[in-house]
Amino acid sequence: MSDESFQHVIRKRRSVRKFEPGRSVDRDVLSRIVDCGRWAPSGANVQCWDFIVVDDPQVRDDVTEVFRQQAQRLVDHAKGFPAVKKTYLANTVAIIIVLGDPRWRVCFPQPTTPGWEAEYQDNNEAIFLCSLGAAIQNIQLGVAAEGLTSAWLSGGGEDVTNRALSDLLGYPEWMKAYGTIPIGYPAATQNRRYRRPLQQSLHWNGYQANQYRTHEQVDFYESSLRPFAMYRDEEFLESWGDRVEKLGEWDDAFTTVNSNPGGTLQQAEDFSSPRTLGQATKRRNNK
Ligand SMILES: Cc1cc2nc3c(=O)[nH]c(=O)nc-3n(C[C@H](O)[C@H](O)[C@H](O)COP(=O)(O)O)c2cc1C
Repeated sequence: MSDESFQHVIRKRRSVRKFEPGRSVDRDVLSRIVDCGRWAPSGANVQCWDFIVVDDPQVRDDVTEVFRQQAQRLVDHAKGFPAVKKTYLANTVAIIIVLGDPRWRVCFPQPTTPGWEAEYQDNNEAIFLCSLGAAIQNIQLGVAAEGLTSAWLSGGGEDVTNRALSDLLGYPEWMKAYGTIPIGYPAATQNRRYRRPLQQSLHWNGYQANQYRTHEQVDFYESSLRPFAMYRDEEFLESWGDRVEKLGEWDDAFTTVNSNPGGTLQQAEDFSSPRTLGQATKRRNNK
């Protein structure tokens, strides 16, 4: 494959949440796609995954129902997040569920000296999740290379949803559906998506403090910009007709290489929940 077609597949991998109904796909195609996941890297080569491919329409409808309820729980209990209804899963040609098997974590570096537990255990979690992410990503790229499209649903990682999936599909409930990948033929054009320009995220030979995104910029994204950045069919914020309205005083921070002109880095704070009373937080608090 040429560099050009590789780049093409990378860019074609888009999250699409609307599929043409009534289509189907060969199991050979689905097997090739899963094989892409099988070739992903994993910590200590543990391959801490299994792949369930749902291509039976009845089972697909049952999985769709699990995710319809999952989406409703987000509306009820995670207010403010711009979740979409998952009924589109009914139009998939298949759904691939990537299970994470936590037993394999013992193969990652384990602390043997008192006081070093956090050092290794936290990283152990990261190795496990990153390995699964690599497999999910490979599958999405495989989907794109086959001329199909997909999304990456993380809701199976929520306990209630995972229990419902484990009841339905028969896997032990201590395994987890970290990635659910609905696959289909796109019914909506989704060629582009907001990406931070390369020169903002690329740092040569050291971290460039003027490219640092301040806590307040993160707060603004969470509270106000997120739904548009997530779903619009545009790569560049400069193309938005309502750029001034949506970006306001944050325009420079998001569109130039100088998100932090003063170059001052900030201390860690409590990042465990949103910190502002922006639109998303108001919705969450029903204000
Ligand atoms: C770890 C992870 C979890 C995600 N979870 C969901 C999800 O539950 N539902 C969904 O519709 N999209 C989900 N996405 C897709 C992202 O919203 C999407 O990748 C992002 O908005 C960028 O769009 P793009 O994939 O088209 O480039 C997830 C992506 C990742 C990497």
